[in-house]
Amino acid sequence: MFGEGAPDAELMFIGEAPGEQEDRTGRPFVGRAGRKLDEIIQAMGLARPDVYIANVLKSRPMGNRTPLPTEVEQCAAFLAEQIRIIQPKVIVGLGGPAVKWLLGTNVGITRLRGQWATFTDAEVAVPVMPTFHPAYLLRNYTPDTRGKVWSDMQQVMAYLQPASK
Ligand code: URA
Repeated sequence: MFGEGAPDAELMFIGEAPGEQEDRTGRPFVGRAGRKLDEIIQAMGLARPDVYIANVLKSRPMGNRTPLPTEVEQCAAFLAEQIRIIQPKVIVGLGGPAVKWLLGTNVGITRLRGQWATFTDAEVAVPVMPTFHPAYLLRNYTPDTRGKVWSDMQQVMAYLQPASK
């Protein structure tokens, strides 16, 4: 399951790995977490076809477990190439595993979220906004968590605003 969206998207969302429904349909974020992500995208004044959505892993880990470092390594080359092709203005890193890979860090998402960072490789440097994964948001649907994700997305909107149509 590769990813989908506008080839010239300014905004790219990167999640962890396809779940059962994503594996079945071949589309990213189409289950419950995906519906939450759709709501977030709409609240940002965008629609799903305006953005690009991908995952670190391209297939579902057995039993939906957290990806192993070797699995991340095997799939990451494809994701890096996707980023180089799309050349987004901003990447939103959804949850710990995506952000760990994007930033090459082991620091937890709770400490990283809300603070701009940068994805860099030999060819590109893209601003990254780390935030909670929509599945985490659904499991912890409190005013605090929702407020944090929304404030992270407001930072992204403010960054994209001057250049948007
Ligand atoms: N969770 C993810 O991280 N990615 C998906 O595509 C679906 C659920």
